[in-house]
Amino acid sequence: MPSSRPVDASGVVRATVRDAEGIHRLVNFWAAQGQMLPRTLGETYENLRDFFVIREGDEVVACGALHITWADLAELKSLATAEDRQGRGYGRAIVEACHQEGRDLGLSGLFALTYRPQFFEPLGWRQADVMTLPRKVWNECYRCPKFPGCEEIAMVIDLVPPAAPAVDA
Ligand SMILES: CC(C)(COP(=O)(O)OP(=O)(O)OC[C@H]1O[C@@H](n2cnc3c(N)ncnc32)[C@H](O)[C@@H]1OP(=O)(O)O)[C@@H](O)C(=O)NCCC(=O)NCCS
Repeated sequence: MPSSRPVDASGVVRATVRDAEGIHRLVNFWAAQGQMLPRTLGETYENLRDFFVIREGDEVVACGALHITWADLAELKSLATAEDRQGRGYGRAIVEACHQEGRDLGLSGLFALTYRPQFFEPLGWRQADVMTLPRKVWNECYRCPKFPGCEEIAMVIDLVPPAAPAVDA
C-alpha cells in the first residue's frame, strides 16, 4: 500500500487515517505544555494529507505537517516527538522529509513558528521577521490563547532545487 511505504530510510511515512488519533494525542500533549497550538481531532483529519509520521508498531512517536500557504511558501506545523522518544533523530527526519516534499512540490521556501529556534538552525533554517510572512498566518494566530502575547520565533529556510545533471558535450 503506497501510504505505508517509507518516504526515506529513516522510517518517515505519510500519515493515514489510522494515525489521526495518535497525531492528535501527541500534538495536544505538547500543546498542554504551551509548546505548540492545540488541534481538534476534526482539524487533524482535515489536514491529514499534510502529515508525515514515524511509527513504532502502531504507535505514532513523531509527526509533522507541511501546509502550503502560497505558490512559493509552505508552513511546517505540528512538529512533535513523543516525550520518551526525544533525541533519536525523529524530529530531524520529519523536518528533512518536509524539505524534500517542499522541493518536490516546487516551493522555494518553508517557514515555521517555534519556541525552539536552536533545533531548526543546524538544519539550515534562519530566524526571520514574522512581519515578512504572509498575513494568512495571522488567521491561526487570532485563534491562539496566547495572542497577542506570543513569543514564538519565525524561522525560514530557502529550498534550493537539486542541480541539473551535467550534460556531456
Ligand atoms: C523539537 C522536537 C520536535 C525535537 O524532536 P527530537 O526527535 O527530539 O529531535 P532530534 O532527535 O531529531 O534532534 C535533532 C537534533 O536537534 C537537537 N535538538 C533536539 N531538540 C532540541 C531543542 N529543543 N533545542 C535545541 N536542539 C534540539 C538534538 O540534540 C539533535 O542534535 P544532534 O543531531 O546534534 O544530536 C521535540 O523536542 C518536541 O517534540 N518538542 C515539543 C514540541 C515542539 O516544540 N515542537 C516544535 C514546534 S515547531
